[in-house]
Amino acid sequence: MCLYELDGVVKKYGDRTIVNINKLNINRNKVYAVLGPNGAGKSTLLRLLNLLEKPDHGILKFLGQEVNTSTASRRLDIARQMCMVFQKPHMFRATVLENVAYGLKLRGKSTSEIKRLSEEMLDVVGLPHLAKNAAHKLSGGESQRAAIARALVLRPKLLLLDEPTSNLDPYSVNIIEDIIRFSQKEYGMTVIIVTHNLFQAKRLSDETLLLLDGKVVEMNDTLAFFNNPQDERTKSFLDGTMVY
Ligand SMILES: Nc1ncnc2c1ncn2[C@@H]1O[C@H](COP(=O)(O)OP(=O)(O)OP(=O)(O)O)[C@@H](O)[C@H]1O
Ligand SMILES: [Mg+2]
Repeated sequence: MCLYELDGVVKKYGDRTIVNINKLNINRNKVYAVLGPNGAGKSTLLRLLNLLEKPDHGILKFLGQEVNTSTASRRLDIARQMCMVFQKPHMFRATVLENVAYGLKLRGKSTSEIKRLSEEMLDVVGLPHLAKNAAHKLSGGESQRAAIARALVLRPKLLLLDEPTSNLDPYSVNIIEDIIRFSQKEYGMTVIIVTHNLFQAKRLSDETLLLLDGKVVEMNDTLAFFNNPQDERTKSFLDGTMVY
């Protein structure tokens, strides 16, 4: 069974169709890269997947369960199996450690378990020295790393990353990419990462897709996607000659 299945999913803002996906199947334990120019609908697609938006038409099925016809409690249960890291993460006015611990608290874990898991995750993202600092005063890159820790500590089945390394220095990009690979292997996570960095997509993902005007133009095994793109628009997007 697929982790996520989309069928005829349309999202409009006013008269404008922002996302228009005929068919999209997301399989378990894979890393997907989503490419596309500014305004293509990438973030909107992630928000649809994360249940932050409802589609105007179409069906989303998570582990075989239709999301939008489910009860509120069932939707909450589905939403708790996924985590999203926004491009500009919002840190609560609390310490970095408390930010990472927040979701575990909501899920009713014991205090000792929360402390252990949160500290472990701050180590993983390389921020243990900032555990007691005020989270809203972190730099852009530190916030992204803390936000990734806050998501990963929940061991979601699906991790949605919206340009998670756009503010990071090369060393930190490496750390985050290692964490993404580790999460896929160790926790069996499925990851969908939106990126403008083609090298990152090549390095990290099993499959890559190109979104243009809300539509999936091409989706393929990452090697084939880059080495042998089928659609003319993919070719011109990849070689930088596409005119928007
Ligand atoms: N809440 C909203 N209300 C109205 N229009 C919106 C809303 N959110 C996004 N849009 C519009 O939808 C289009 C797609 O936006 P989206 O943020 O999904 O693009 P994107 O592919 O993530 O772009 P970028 O690479 O710049 O992050 C844009 O033209 C944007 O202006
Ligand atoms: Mg975006």
